[in-house]
Amino acid sequence: MYRIIEKKELNSSLKSMVIEAPHVARAARPGQFVIVRIHEEGERIPLTIADFDREKGTVTIVFQEVGKSTMHLGTLREGDTIVTFAGPLGQPSEIEDYGKVICIGGGVGIAPIYPIVRALKDKGNYVISIIGVRSKELLFWEDKMRDSSDELIICTDDGSCGRKGVVTEPLKEILDSSNTISRVWAIGPAVMMKYVSALTRPYNIHTIVSLNPIMIDGTGMCGGCRVIIGDESRFVCVDGPEFNAHTVDWDNLLKRLQFYKKEERLAIDHWTHKCKLNND
Ligand code: FAD
Ligand code: FES
Ligand code: MG
Repeated sequence: MYRIIEKKELNSSLKSMVIEAPHVARAARPGQFVIVRIHEEGERIPLTIADFDREKGTVTIVFQEVGKSTMHLGTLREGDTIVTFAGPLGQPSEIEDYGKVICIGGGVGIAPIYPIVRALKDKGNYVISIIGVRSKELLFWEDKMRDSSDELIICTDDGSCGRKGVVTEPLKEILDSSNTISRVWAIGPAVMMKYVSALTRPYNIHTIVSLNPIMIDGTGMCGGCRVIIGDESRFVCVDGPEFNAHTVDWDNLLKRLQFYKKEERLAIDHWTHKCKLNND
């Protein structure tokens, strides 16, 4: 059992939790994730290791409540336990001194990009971070990102904070005005990563994305997380989650993410109905 030792509401649909999981914290590296199961009958969901403290033996997760499992997780309180917290899983990010790099986090993707930004900075890179959200109230970890970056650019769709517009706009401006960017990382909704990838391709800049297909076991056994990279099938849970953006078949990934929409809707309807019955 894994105890929730701290819970914070970052905004109306986004929560962070610090989980007591010494064996995960001990081995965790930027770019890796855990598989979480709330209770014995619960489904397994992947969540990125957003932060870790080896001395305290804790791991931080940040999750957006989008469906049954994340909403259920959001109802748990400090002191409660979760039954499965398996990890660290996946290949860690390759962190070297590349020179000048750009790190992009969109929406909840700000959480997984943070440990990568911090590690790149610690390694000596000059890090320009670009983070984007729909509006100011959805922004989180601005301070953490500012502290770990040499430059931080904030974008909001409605202009309520930072500059108005999407993350690809400042990215294009930087790429047009500088030829010293050696790498770009992008984590966020698949469609955002697809657009970043399309933008950096003509500049021939190595671009890394962290893919988010549906996962079940997280150990390479079920095939659920299969993606097409170049001409090959790869399993994101063991071969990734990071891949060269310019080799990803984005349309295939976007299609597969839609596969279980009907079942996901039924699960949430069933769960909210049960919750209401229990409260009566
Ligand atoms: P559902 O209603 O079941 O699904 C909503 C949508 O979430 C689906 O349409 C699908 O696109 C996606 N999804 C559903 N089930 C899964 C699954 N088993 N695996 C992956 N995606 C699924 N989200 C965060 O908020 N924070 C994170 O740090 C984070 N890290 C991730 C790291 C990896 C490696 C991957 C693959 C995904 C990550 N996600 C993260 C996405 C998160 O796993 C899904 O949002 C979550 O599983 C949704 O579950 P649900 O039951 O609440 O929603
Ligand atoms: Fe089963 Fe990757 S989640 S193979
Ligand atoms: Mg679900």
